[in-house]
Amino acid sequence: MERLQKVIAHAGIASRRKAEELITEGKVKVNGQVVRELGTKVSSSDTIEVEGVKIEKEAKVYYLLYKPRGVISAVSDDHGRKTVVDLLPHVEQRIFPVGRLDYDTSGVLLLTNDGDFSNLLTHPRYNIDKTYVAKIKGSPRKEDLKKLERGIMLEDGKTAPAKVKVLSSNREQGKSIIAITIHEGRNRQVRRMFEAIGYPVLKLKREQFAFLGLQGLNAGESRTLTAHEVKQLRVLSETGKIG
Ligand code: URA
Repeated sequence: MERLQKVIAHAGIASRRKAEELITEGKVKVNGQVVRELGTKVSSSDTIEVEGVKIEKEAKVYYLLYKPRGVISAVSDDHGRKTVVDLLPHVEQRIFPVGRLDYDTSGVLLLTNDGDFSNLLTHPRYNIDKTYVAKIKGSPRKEDLKKLERGIMLEDGKTAPAKVKVLSSNREQGKSIIAITIHEGRNRQVRRMFEAIGYPVLKLKREQFAFLGLQGLNAGESRTLTAHEVKQLRVLSETGKIG
């Protein structure tokens, strides 16, 4: 469900502010009824008319981007930095990232113009596994990694149990590569988890979002999700499993 003024603005009919005016002036109908209340929520099955003209629904699109480092997960940036949307210039629809990866994090990032789908995948209630590969400073002890597996107290509360695997550890260079799977999506969560056990993250990449990886893509490249993948993601977020 989305706010009526947002849907009108996204359909390219008017700016958000102008859309609000149209609503309060009684020029907008939802399913044949005039709606004057700002903030009215509508879903994709509602019919919306603005000054007697039906809004054509934008086709829903779904992309998987291999986000490079040095790009922000947003649709625009006040400081003129490159955004993830800039990396898909051929897409006409108003896509936005599903959740976010830090500026310095690379890896799997989904983009869509489907707000309901995005909410499904980012809502903490739905447990989508995300696997990150972190290059960290130091060689963590087993008991430190166990803390991450059990859940560790951060300033915004205890993290849910994580799966952790040491992929390599080089004592001479003082660096290790660790795979960590979490299903929460708190701000800078992986970096803060490693920080909390005393091993700062030097480099971070999201290798996997649910069953989706980066196969066949170079950094900065994207592909469309298949209808089947979209369906599987929906099923997974609703039931916790596929098939
Ligand atoms: N955890 C982080 O610390 N950063 C990300 O970008 C994603 C998860």
